[in-house]
Amino acid sequence: MAPTQAALYDDLAGDLHLSWSETELPERERTKHVHRLHPYLGKFVPQLVEALLVRYVKPGGRVLDPFAGSGTTLVQGLESGYDSVGIDIAAFNCLLMRVKTSEYDPFRLESDVRSALARRGRSSVRPTGFVGRWFAPDAAAELLHFRSLLEDYEHADVLRVVLARAARSARLTTHFDLDFPRTPQRESYWCHKHRRTCTPVQEADKFLRRYLVDTLDRLKTFGRVRSRGRRAEILHGDATEVTLDGAFDAILTSPPYPGLIDYHEQHRYAYEILGLDDRRERELGPAAAGTSRRAIESYVAGISTVFRRGSERLADGAPVLVVVNDRRNLYPEILERSSLRLVDRLERHVNRRTGRRAGEYFESILVCVRET
Ligand SMILES: C[S@@+](CC[C@H](N)C(=O)[O-])C[C@H]1O[C@@H](n2cnc3c(N)ncnc32)[C@H](O)[C@@H]1O
Repeated sequence: MAPTQAALYDDLAGDLHLSWSETELPERERTKHVHRLHPYLGKFVPQLVEALLVRYVKPGGRVLDPFAGSGTTLVQGLESGYDSVGIDIAAFNCLLMRVKTSEYDPFRLESDVRSALARRGRSSVRPTGFVGRWFAPDAAAELLHFRSLLEDYEHADVLRVVLARAARSARLTTHFDLDFPRTPQRESYWCHKHRRTCTPVQEADKFLRRYLVDTLDRLKTFGRVRSRGRRAEILHGDATEVTLDGAFDAILTSPPYPGLIDYHEQHRYAYEILGLDDRRERELGPAAAGTSRRAIESYVAGISTVFRRGSERLADGAPVLVVVNDRRNLYPEILERSSLRLVDRLERHVNRRTGRRAGEYFESILVCVRET
């Protein structure tokens, strides 16, 4: 059972307790319902969003996440009774957010998913390009067949996310390099993760089957816990220039870090298979740009513009909550350039137990308001 909010978030002095152990906040809670519809590197946990919303944002308010990623703020907002607007430059992230936050008629959704399940098969089209290189022949034939069905369905976007997830699992990669594989792995190999010889996946069908059922289940579960009448709006664009309408009661976000993750590249297979619009040149702080002085300057300028534009839309006294691991101490300048004043700084100890990036680190939550 989920721990109660007060027990999880408040310490005895009434301060926020945000450094949860695995026992306090087990993986199945961090990845509950739609939060695990598709892997995404670099997200924060919904419980952190929940604690910050409840503590800092007026109940029922409207929240902006200008770097919305996989949609954690939006999904938790819907669960906690907030409206939200999420911006992201990456088309796949926007697709994923739309699928997570849309409202569904569970019967119509189930009927589409069951029909797609029943129509799985193999395409006779010869795979070329990315699909030809990154998938074994059987896997490619199964994925291409599934893709050819998409347009027949009202819930095509849900099926697109399932297709992307199955493609990710069926790529010719080693088990220990799923995030950014460089070259297709066609032969058996010594697997550091499993400490034995492993063979690359040959089929996609078992993933399509498993993820169709899992996705339906997760969407239905979320449908039962989301607040009625609340909405999440998704804007696909560059947060330094996208048009914002209306007022906000908070900004809550975790910005990209400089030189760490290429957000388009991590879902390359999805862009290739789904034919999505690639705008990677507009990412702020991509790993590909490195951490030269010029790259950092352009990162600081971009992030400051986003906060300045967002905070101009804030109601008086509304908070800007930034979850960040500011190793390079860039935030004093970013806040100054955005006309934001730091009013509190919470530290959070994160201890990742699983995955290749396991390890511990600290991150801060900067609580800011607009300078008057
Ligand atoms: C740290 S991630 C946010 C993760 C999010 N908190 C979650 O839980 O999924 C940062 C996001 O910023 C997005 N991003 C990078 N540059 C952007 C830009 N210029 N405009 C809008 N979004 C951008 C990336 O695509 C990425 O999804």
